[in-house]
Amino acid sequence: MTVPSTIETRQPASVGDPRWWRNAVIYQLYPRSFADGNGDGIGDLAGVRASLPYLRGLGVDALWFTPWYASPWVDGGYDVADYRAIHPDLGTLAEAEALIAEALDLGIRTIVDIVPNHVSSAHPWFAEALGSAVGSPARDRFWFRPGLGTSGELAPTGWVSDFRGGTWTRTTDADGRPGEWYLHLFTPEQPDLNWDNPEVRAEHEAVLRFWFDRGVAGVRIDSAALLVKDPTLPEVGQAGRHPYVDRDGVHDIYRSWRAVADSYPQPKLLVGEVWLEDRARFANYLRPDELHTAFNFDFMTRPWDAAELRDSIEATLASHRPVAATPTWVLSNHDVTRPVTRYGRSDTSFGFGAKRFGVPSDESLGTRRARAAALLTAALPGALYVYQGDELGLPEVELPPEQISDPMHFRSGGVDPGREGCRVPLPWTRDGSSHGFGPDGIPAWLPQPRHWDGISVEAQEADPASMLSLYRAALALRHSEPALRSDDFGWLDGPTEQVLAFRRGSPETGRLTCLVNFGPRPVEIPPGHRLVLASQPNIDNKVGPDVAVWLRPFAETNNTQEKEK
Ligand code: NOJ
Ligand code: CA
Repeated sequence: MTVPSTIETRQPASVGDPRWWRNAVIYQLYPRSFADGNGDGIGDLAGVRASLPYLRGLGVDALWFTPWYASPWVDGGYDVADYRAIHPDLGTLAEAEALIAEALDLGIRTIVDIVPNHVSSAHPWFAEALGSAVGSPARDRFWFRPGLGTSGELAPTGWVSDFRGGTWTRTTDADGRPGEWYLHLFTPEQPDLNWDNPEVRAEHEAVLRFWFDRGVAGVRIDSAALLVKDPTLPEVGQAGRHPYVDRDGVHDIYRSWRAVADSYPQPKLLVGEVWLEDRARFANYLRPDELHTAFNFDFMTRPWDAAELRDSIEATLASHRPVAATPTWVLSNHDVTRPVTRYGRSDTSFGFGAKRFGVPSDESLGTRRARAAALLTAALPGALYVYQGDELGLPEVELPPEQISDPMHFRSGGVDPGREGCRVPLPWTRDGSSHGFGPDGIPAWLPQPRHWDGISVEAQEADPASMLSLYRAALALRHSEPALRSDDFGWLDGPTEQVLAFRRGSPETGRLTCLVNFGPRPVEIPPGHRLVLASQPNIDNKVGPDVAVWLRPFAETNNTQEKEK
């Protein structure tokens, strides 16, 4: 048994706590693949509303919805045509409002995704810009520029997109002649906004208020370090700082967003998607008048290795301390390979450029490690992100190329399998053609592997040794254990260098020890400790390879436990 009988269902999140996010568990929801409520094969808000008891039972404090707005869905919804409308496949604004309120009644807050770097080419602003003259105010909201070369036939820069390929597309003028070029760091259907334009700034602050006024608790900010561009458009590496990554001017934007967030009686949370290797530059986004937190991609991309993860944990804590910010712990998201698959490969690190079809994985080893990783991350101080389906231990699905619609796949010339392998609809029941994602007989928008009955919510709820039971137990303890809610953290000496051990808490809160064995041989549970939770069943006083345990020192008490004799 991995679930001690003493663990009780969690209490609702303290809805009145203004700093709730400091040790929250935030569940990332990709709504198109969560649950189909109306039976059209596409996940929707009705499906989420019907599943709120599941999310409450899992023990999460908040839901982060990837974009749910009106969108042509060229890039998984990150191409927004209207920030104030819900995509008709997903539902209506009234349903979103009902969802926000119903979740809050269960103690669960809602975070929405804001995509400020670009809009969809179907956004009315872009249509207006294309129909307006060179140099017009409508074009100034974007990056329209003449081309280089004798007749403007060359793109203004040679910048390379994160999605591979160029970052400029040439327009055609009303008379049919080739016209200006416009910038898109991602696909041509995602034109970049010009953040030097005051209308762009005002519009986004209005969008923030639109959602804050509807009761959302915060926003996740897409591509947060890319907004400001060098208007002289130098090539990358040509002069000074990067022409569009992490330019100093971006901080002014977040200072004014923070003022908006703080103007509410219950201040709103700002979470940044900031991919930066330089830790000091990363921490700049987390200064007290900017964002509250940002995703810890350093930790997420590291290999399954004691020294690597220890280094990442130390560096994370060290870089957050000077700005008094809350660290986050992330194992995956809708863009990266599922942990169960990644940790079962010979290279367990993650990198976008390395994604290929057919990379072998020992998924039983990967699952063992993903279970240990769940206990490791849930024991660290700060906020924890859980991507939908990771609590079920879903593997990455290798989709047949004809079913892939991700631009990362196409723009790589078909070499990169894209990101939909981690966006396959969730299996809820053993039976049914889509395992309960939607009604029987209705195909899900992306096919699930046929053997997903055993990994379904229904199957795992009945099994105390399942990944789902492990997640529920760990999240319940994060709520009930004062040690795990404290800021106290200290490394302990492990029996070997391949064992990470740390303690949480103090004599006042009671202490808890987390020990993770990355080595090839079992190690003994240190004397004077009682087992609280283990990532594998039947561990019998030994912590095997790729196993994590939570332990309580005998001499300690806490608010809920009797002192050990
Ligand atoms: C990051 C998002 O997570 C990803 O899914 C998206 O494609 C890019 N930003 C562009 O918006
Ligand atoms: Ca639907």
